[in-house]
Amino acid sequence: MKHHAVAELPSAGRTINALPKTSKFVLLIIFVTLIFFTVTPVLYPLLNYPIYLLQSSFTSKSSSSTYEIPQQQEKDIHASDQSENVCDIFSGEWVRNTDPPYYTNMTCSALIHDHQFCMKYGRPDTDFMKWKWKPYGCELPVFDPSQFLEIVKGKSLAFVADSLGRNQIQSLICLLSRVEYPIDVSYTPDDYFKRWKYKTYNFTIAYFWAPYLVKYKERDPSAQYTGLINLYLDEFNEKWTSQIDGFDYLIISSGHWFISRPAVFYENHQIVGCHDCQLQNVTDLTKFYAYRKALRTAFKAINNLENFKGITFLRSFSPSHFENGLWSNGGTCNRTKPFRSNETVLGGDNLETYMIQMEELRAAEKEGRKRGKKYRMLDITQAMLLRPDAHPSKYGYWASKKVMFNDCLHWCLPGPIDTWNEILLQVLKIEGTR
Ligand SMILES: *[C@@H]1O[C@H](CO)[C@@H](O)[C@H](O)[C@H]1NC(C)=O
Ligand SMILES: *[C@@H]1O[C@H](CO)[C@@H](O)[C@H](O)[C@H]1NC(C)=O
Ligand SMILES: *[C@@H]1O[C@H](CO)[C@@H](O)[C@H](O)[C@H]1NC(C)=O
Ligand SMILES: *[C@@H]1O[C@H](CO)[C@@H](O)[C@H](O)[C@H]1NC(C)=O
Ligand SMILES: *[C@@H]1O[C@H](CO)[C@@H](O)[C@H](O)[C@H]1NC(C)=O
Repeated sequence: MKHHAVAELPSAGRTINALPKTSKFVLLIIFVTLIFFTVTPVLYPLLNYPIYLLQSSFTSKSSSSTYEIPQQQEKDIHASDQSENVCDIFSGEWVRNTDPPYYTNMTCSALIHDHQFCMKYGRPDTDFMKWKWKPYGCELPVFDPSQFLEIVKGKSLAFVADSLGRNQIQSLICLLSRVEYPIDVSYTPDDYFKRWKYKTYNFTIAYFWAPYLVKYKERDPSAQYTGLINLYLDEFNEKWTSQIDGFDYLIISSGHWFISRPAVFYENHQIVGCHDCQLQNVTDLTKFYAYRKALRTAFKAINNLENFKGITFLRSFSPSHFENGLWSNGGTCNRTKPFRSNETVLGGDNLETYMIQMEELRAAEKEGRKRGKKYRMLDITQAMLLRPDAHPSKYGYWASKKVMFNDCLHWCLPGPIDTWNEILLQVLKIEGTR
């Protein structure tokens, strides 16, 4: 990946981001191939199994594009850190690690969904747990649960997310479990809207299911997860926008559902287009149109919240790694080693989604600055692009349970997704010292 992660956006005073000067000038477009796979609605798996496995367009073989960040933008991102010799924790390599994993399926239990506990379901190899993220130019400290809890004491953290957000929450709860387990203080029995509290620290984690960030509706409610979905691209999803006022930190993420599912797009209560809907007289505007608009609407909702004083983190796109096929026709992820950064490059849908995130976050930050809102990027894209070896694959279920699809999208626990929280801790530390 040849573009650069920002820990925070340009207006902020300090940053933990820097790039080697030379790399700023070697950004050449080699070539760009955007791969649009089509998918037939009848293939959608029934329930239960994540809809995101529907379709993923990334295979390391087929994507070979790089992207040039326009000069102006590039300057903009790094405007504040020219003189500082600071480390970019978002770019680096995975290096061997001899420490035991932070937790195991035996030491951390009591989770909501455990389909990412790969060891439990018999994943035979353990190598994928023996790597650590090594940013260029510095070390990423090991996760210290006491330190994390001290920083977030008396505070609250909300995830507005799809199931990858839940994957991160599970990692966080397991990482913190050496100090304390939270109690479930959910307002509803609905697994999609959960709250946990760390009593000793008066720290709350909330999870708001919002795979599209904006308001959406099944077009045909009887066709659960199999039909078209209506996306109201300019309407707030009040299930979360009405709830986040009091939160100190917000982590939003999204992407895969836009890529995966055909949808009809609404703006101003009118159909404006669709993605792969095959309806007469409805223009196919592509999934990226919808994603950009939805992200914009989500940020607008946040910027409009008078009482929200928290920091908004956008957790960047987490690439999937289906190879030798798509999710639906036998795609696998059976590699056993991370890539080195020179062995793969962000491309296709992954790249497009990531760039939309960067651009929209930057725009939101600019608008939000006038209203005292803070935005930051949790940029895990490069790190995770390099980890085709760490998905549950077929070890998300007991082998006896016939599962039709390999999960090359979520991440095994323990595993590299723990790094998201190692990074989160470092970013929170910096916020704490402001
Ligand atoms: C944990 O994983 C091991 C395999 O590594 C398995 O034998 C054991 O039953 C699992 N324990 C639980 C509580 O899931
Ligand atoms: C716990 O934290 C919340 C903010 O998240 C605060 O409103 C409340 O007063 C705190 N309670 C105690 C007992 O400190
Ligand atoms: C589609 O557009 C054509 C030409 O404008 C029109 O004749 C036709 O009735 C439209 N079909 C639908 C289903 O709206
Ligand atoms: C990985 O999967 C592919 C296709 O499913 C198979 O051809 C290959 O042998 C597998 N590799 C390993 C190391 O299991
Ligand atoms: C990637 O870099 C490593 C170490 O710098 C080197 O040994 C390897 O040959 C490189 N691989 C490719 C495909 O360039």
